[in-house]
Amino acid sequence: MKTRLPRKRKVHLRIRVNGETHEVAFAPHKTLLEVLREDMGLTGTKHGCELGECGTCTVLIDGEPQLSCLVLGLECEGMDIITVEGLADGPQPHPLQQSFAELGAAQCGYCTPGILLASKALLDEDPNPPRDRIREALSGNLCRCTGYIKIYEAVELAARRLKDPKAEPSREILRGYEV
Ligand code: FES
Ligand code: FES
Repeated sequence: MKTRLPRKRKVHLRIRVNGETHEVAFAPHKTLLEVLREDMGLTGTKHGCELGECGTCTVLIDGEPQLSCLVLGLECEGMDIITVEGLADGPQPHPLQQSFAELGAAQCGYCTPGILLASKALLDEDPNPPRDRIREALSGNLCRCTGYIKIYEAVELAARRLKDPKAEPSREILRGYEV
């Protein structure tokens, strides 16, 4: 006679994501990345290495950038989580999203959600970060397409647009786009 293994029980948790509280049931071993993607349908957060090395799974937890592949969903009860789906203000993209799109700071886009969230955390803390600070804040987010310069320029433009929504890319940047 076969012995039946006990079915893994699911845990039920209240998680606050992008300003809304959700009741979610998931297997207790799941990471926050898995809970977001598989149990909540929020597939904007990407999974890459799942080892804490690439940064593509970055989300904000209580305002701090965290690698969601290294956090258990169970640990997130009562915490405030922001994913890339929560960046826009209704139909209005966040200045970071707008600047990344406009300056071509995303190519395949796989790294982009994580970079947007890490950049948001930086700009929330320092509205006028020098290039070195941007480089340091994004040092844990790998990108295999853009070469980073456009990403840094997009973060700088977004910082200006958060103060003045009409701010435009500088002439030097636009010159770099001429063919
Ligand atoms: S998937 Fe989390 S750091 Fe790579
Ligand atoms: S845009 Fe392709 S990895 Fe960054």
